[in-house]
Amino acid sequence: MADTETVSFPQDRTCPYHPPTEYRPQKDGRTPLPPVSPARLFDGRRVWLVTGHAEARVLLVDRRLSADREDPAFPILAERLALSSRRRVELIGVDDPEHNAQRRMLIPSFSVKRTAALRPRIQETVDRLLDAMIEQGPPADLVSAFALPVPSTVICALLGVPYADHDFFESQSRKLLRGPGTADVEEARDALDEYFRELIERKRSDRGDGLLDELIARQLDTGAMGRDELVQLSELLLVAGHETTSNMISLGTFTLLQHPDQLDRMRASEELMPTAVEELLRFLSVADGISRLATEDIEVGGVTIRAGEGVVLSTSAINRDETAYPAADELDLGRQARHHVAFGFGIHQCLGQNLARAELEIALRTLFDRLPGLRLAAPADEIPFKPGDTLQGMVELPVAW
Ligand code: HEM
Repeated sequence: MADTETVSFPQDRTCPYHPPTEYRPQKDGRTPLPPVSPARLFDGRRVWLVTGHAEARVLLVDRRLSADREDPAFPILAERLALSSRRRVELIGVDDPEHNAQRRMLIPSFSVKRTAALRPRIQETVDRLLDAMIEQGPPADLVSAFALPVPSTVICALLGVPYADHDFFESQSRKLLRGPGTADVEEARDALDEYFRELIERKRSDRGDGLLDELIARQLDTGAMGRDELVQLSELLLVAGHETTSNMISLGTFTLLQHPDQLDRMRASEELMPTAVEELLRFLSVADGISRLATEDIEVGGVTIRAGEGVVLSTSAINRDETAYPAADELDLGRQARHHVAFGFGIHQCLGQNLARAELEIALRTLFDRLPGLRLAAPADEIPFKPGDTLQGMVELPVAW
């Protein structure tokens, strides 16, 4: 790897909806980074940072990049993840052909048709939460009153997990993603393992109609999948399914309130919603930092990634690449923002993307319809947002109406 000036990854954002300037030094009048450039992780390890859109799309479909987190050479993005990162993670941390076999078991549950069937349930959840928030009166913390419970309720319903346990999940899932210490991450994983082992046992004798029940009947009981594999997959779906979408709802609301012209546009046209959500996904890129490990030498963007080197893709920088999106730093809800990498790309592209889109459309549309006077209840620059080493979003979002 060339010994040039290296950027450290990840960095905190300075504005909750813009990528850190270190990934795009040209914004400060400095020399731009090449699309694939050397970067340094917290442990001093050197990896390749991908910020170019074309290069990212090429790399994310390249079978010579592995997602296997069990490999000791797999790049780890934060210290607290050091221990647990070495554990096997089903689906998202597995390469083909195994990955393909697991994904095929889940695909029917996440089809466009199955997601469309969930829309009334999503709408009901959104309405109920807004009723409660309105009844309580302003001000409210939109994260705890709305942005977190919407996806959390939906994923519990989809999986067939009792919503009564949602406090437990939310706290464990937050610990899993944010720590703060390595021990917290380990504890959260153990607690979730135990919870799902017990739930699966209970469900074996008392069947419900969720995805988990379906997987028990079709995969576990037929021997196609082992119990530990099912426990891990359930955890992945639970964590992936609510924290990401919750961050999109809170950060999406904050961003729309900061762009009143775009908010007016969204309010004026229901048909604009799908395009608006796609643009928000591009603009906000809440899952910033997809990692891979090269298993062979790869030539890309004028550099050679050597076998054994780590690759980190900054979705936020990639989605602001001007060659792919002219005036990329402008939020333009009418833009055709497809081909963004906010959901990743290639074999691991987000399995829950249809569900996430449906939740975002319904949650944002209904929120601004029902609360036309929605506004921030604190100065924008005093509202805390999340650090760069975790999913991007608001820690809390005080609002009034
Ligand atoms: C706006 C919300 C969401 C965002 C931004 C998001 C983002 C992502 C990204 C970037 C990946 C690719 C990771 C990689 O390549 O290493 C991914 C994978 C995944 N996501 Fe999402 N996600 C969201 C919502 C959801 C939801 C609602 C679910 C499920 C219920 C979900 C389940 C998954 C799963 C299972 C994978 C792994 C797929 C595989 O490895 O084949 N996600 N997501």
